[in-house]
Amino acid sequence: MDRLYIFDTTLRDGEQSPGASMTSDEKLEVALQLADLGVDIIEAGFPIASPDDAGAVRRIAMEVKGPIIAGLARAKPDDIDVAWEALRDGESVRLHTFISTSDIHLKHQFRMTREEALEHAVAMVKRAKSYVGDVEFSPMDATRSDWNYLYQVLEAVIDAGATTINIPDTVGFITPIEFGKMIASIREHVPNSDRVVISTHCHNDLGMAVSNSLAGVLNGARQVECTINGIGERAGNAALEEIVMAVNTRPEVYQVETHVDTTQIYKTSRLVSNLTGMVVQPNKAVVGSNAFAHESGIHQDGVLKERSTYEIMDARNVGLASNNLVLGKHSGRHALRARFEEMDYNLSDEELNRAFIRFKEIADKKKEITTKDLEAILADEIVAVQELYQVQRLQVSCGYPLKPTATVSLRLPNGEEREEVATGTGPVDACYKAIDRMTGMPIRLAEYSVHSVTSGIDALGEVSVRIESGGRTFHGRGADPDIIVASAKAYLNALNKAASAPREAPERVATGLGV
Ligand code: KIV
Ligand code: ZN
Repeated sequence: MDRLYIFDTTLRDGEQSPGASMTSDEKLEVALQLADLGVDIIEAGFPIASPDDAGAVRRIAMEVKGPIIAGLARAKPDDIDVAWEALRDGESVRLHTFISTSDIHLKHQFRMTREEALEHAVAMVKRAKSYVGDVEFSPMDATRSDWNYLYQVLEAVIDAGATTINIPDTVGFITPIEFGKMIASIREHVPNSDRVVISTHCHNDLGMAVSNSLAGVLNGARQVECTINGIGERAGNAALEEIVMAVNTRPEVYQVETHVDTTQIYKTSRLVSNLTGMVVQPNKAVVGSNAFAHESGIHQDGVLKERSTYEIMDARNVGLASNNLVLGKHSGRHALRARFEEMDYNLSDEELNRAFIRFKEIADKKKEITTKDLEAILADEIVAVQELYQVQRLQVSCGYPLKPTATVSLRLPNGEEREEVATGTGPVDACYKAIDRMTGMPIRLAEYSVHSVTSGIDALGEVSVRIESGGRTFHGRGADPDIIVASAKAYLNALNKAASAPREAPERVATGLGV
């Protein structure tokens, strides 16, 4: 296997993303994490851009051990000198200089001829070389440059001392097939190209940055410039995590290996996202929150039987705790049983069928089923409800401007009958307060809803409540033509489940499986 060098430019090109700027402390934190990730080169900034940038490059060059620290400089004497000042006290450093080679840039932006650009490139590589052995040269907008002119420039800068030549697709214009050919042609037509490392630097304007970079690798590029989460100018750069996981997952195709510790990928992605405020889209490859989540019943069934049925990477290899089986309306019995088992409930087939019917009813109404919902299903469908408390009589008085007052009498678990009067913000509240006084249980009403089961003036009202008691959740339902009576029945239904539930139930984690 050949070595593929990973050149991370999160702190330079990535930080150029609108709104992504970081303080010097934050840049250092990212650089230290990139070192833990095991990248080979960190492009720490563009020192001429501002004293802050220069300061951050200097700190990183001095404090971060392991990777080579690079600083960017235009092909101008001041840029090279300022970049060198920032880097000079570092242990292992690289000067990276660039100038455009495309006619469109030379004519409209640089206002230079091709010959002048070539002269500048050679002179500045020599100047950089006078400071440090490790010099990288980039012909900006290479992919829109004349290929013969590009060969000429590359040959000259290699002769002048460049040790890495980087081929930028600055505006994300090229296709993978063309880029692959371009790298192969450079190797063929630049006679001294075997003395240097050929690198790719692809932008993502047409969503091709990773594919183009990998096409470069397939044709002999041995350094890829990339950023964490693919951040960078406009649509960004090639995403480091996608490049690294692609070559890790398909070594037989790419025939290269990196020294990246992939288990640090997720942590690095979170850090960069938090510090730059650039949110990672849920379906982003490798690091998106859905990248290892399965909701479809068929997929969940497959993954539970054998992970490789629907996963080409192991979530743990990128630093996640595990994959994530999301319980939702597409989930099947297998995933539901697995989740109940995680919660220490081993259901019989019959119980699982009952729970599954209720689960599908809830899943039709909610996007994601939480552990609290599952506890409520267990309480509803599996745990037998004893009628420990029963309503004997109920009377409420309310109306404008009366204070809602409820008189409730209950039969208690010891067989006695007791009556309480309470006022509340409404008749249901008054009623529940009267009940609470008699049961003495610490209850929090988490949800209350009422709807009519039939239509018309004699409609039956169905009330559904969710209560929390002792850290657990219980659902209750009650139906009656009088919605206050239905409310009391629903509340007592939930309360009786809570009163008969075993006290020592294990603590549940709301998110269940996953990260
Ligand atoms: O996109 C680009 O061309 C660059 C160069 C400075 C390498 O970022
Ligand atoms: Zn760039």
